[in-house]
Amino acid sequence: MSGKPISVDDFEECAKKALAKAVYDYYRSGAEDQQSLRDNVAAFARWRLHPRMLRDVSSIDLSTSVLGQKISMPICVGATAMQRMAHSEGETATVRACRSLGTGMMLSSWATSSIEEVSEAAPDGLRWMQLYIYKDRKLTESLVQRAERAGYKGIFLTIDTPYLGRRFDDIRNRFQLPPHLRMKNFQTSDLAFASDKGYGEDSGLAVYVAKAIDPSIQWDDIEWLRGLTSLPIVVKGILRADDAREAVKRGVNGILVSNHGARQLDGVPATIDVLSEIVEAVEGKVEVLLDGGVRKGTDVLKALALGAKAVFIGRPILWGLAYQGEAGVHDVLQMLMEEFRLAMALAGCRSVNEIDRSLVRRDIASKI
Ligand code: FNR
Ligand code: LAC
Repeated sequence: MSGKPISVDDFEECAKKALAKAVYDYYRSGAEDQQSLRDNVAAFARWRLHPRMLRDVSSIDLSTSVLGQKISMPICVGATAMQRMAHSEGETATVRACRSLGTGMMLSSWATSSIEEVSEAAPDGLRWMQLYIYKDRKLTESLVQRAERAGYKGIFLTIDTPYLGRRFDDIRNRFQLPPHLRMKNFQTSDLAFASDKGYGEDSGLAVYVAKAIDPSIQWDDIEWLRGLTSLPIVVKGILRADDAREAVKRGVNGILVSNHGARQLDGVPATIDVLSEIVEAVEGKVEVLLDGGVRKGTDVLKALALGAKAVFIGRPILWGLAYQGEAGVHDVLQMLMEEFRLAMALAGCRSVNEIDRSLVRRDIASKI
């Protein structure tokens, strides 16, 4: 690459140079053989676009909403843990970049900035809280209450992580936080994943999850969470139509089709390939969102054509953050925004309402 980064891959190249190896490995990795990691990206290419012509695309409106909140474009920032490993300002830089572009950010429970710090960095910025259910239910409850008090607009409950997936690089690197950082939402060293705690020969994070996170969660816990908060609840990590129907029955406000960036169970399908069946199962009762492998404006167009209300991006944001902090995140988001605007125009769509199922077809001949 020479000159300014002009694609997500370019940003990744810049980030790789800026990051310590163990940090880059942690951010990049998928689980085990990383089949699903490759497939999340490759699957988008198997869907072909069928554009409409001659539709006066001199003015394009990208705006939409998620869970009743207006956003400038259907591209939001997903929860990725421990962002201060990428840049000293971490999550506070990310939220400021989101605010300046008019989109929303999902904050990880495992952020290296606290719920309150992130809200102070962008008080009028749209923020959602990603939640893990701890064995300590009182602690979990307090995370929800803090998010509600700090003006977060929804809870994204991650349901695909009763244990951490096996990520070979993290095991080899014995991944843990650098000594100057902690998971800032927690007080004790144990809960804050501090490096003064020993994690043995394994990925430190896998050891942390096994100790602290509740692997016994089940459908009834959605109702438990419902009883704790009046905020909208989205389940993050649905991959099947029957689970989607059950989630709707249990009263969730949204479904995020996600395989956790292919970091949990390897061998699961690419999220874009299961989106349609989940959208069908949900019958318009709640919003369906998608993450995993979104790297280009045309990916966003395909996801919306297949029924997603909006998409969330994970790693590309970390690449921007590692490269240039807030400005880097801003540039990644703006690049995706402009790519999406162009994709809409070239496909003959003037507003997101004009993006429909007829715009995409699965390419059966594709060998990719
Ligand atoms: C994640 N993801 C994640 N999910 C979650 O619910 N809580 C978390 O703390 C994290 N942390 C995290 C760290 C890193 C480094 C990555 C790459 C991912 C998953 C994330 O929210 C999202 O599902 C994927 O990142 C989406 O895939 P892409 O865009 O990275 O391909
Ligand atoms: C991960 C956890 C933080 O994917 O969700 O690393």
